[in-house]
Amino acid sequence: MEDIEICQCNSIMKSEIVKAIKEKGLKTVEEVQEATDAGTVCGSCIPDIEDILKEINE
Ligand code: FES
Repeated sequence: MEDIEICQCNSIMKSEIVKAIKEKGLKTVEEVQEATDAGTVCGSCIPDIEDILKEINE
């Protein structure tokens, strides 16, 4: 899987978000925000976080 920076504000890579979702069983954007800090500044990466959650949890 290609690793890309999802959250530019906090420099969070896709791999970090995927890892947190898998290890902690995260289901919502709020949980990803708490676990990784992604999506907590401008919010523009939230749709991408939602896509990753769907990709992992479906
Ligand atoms: S890009 Fe993620 S909060 Fe701004």
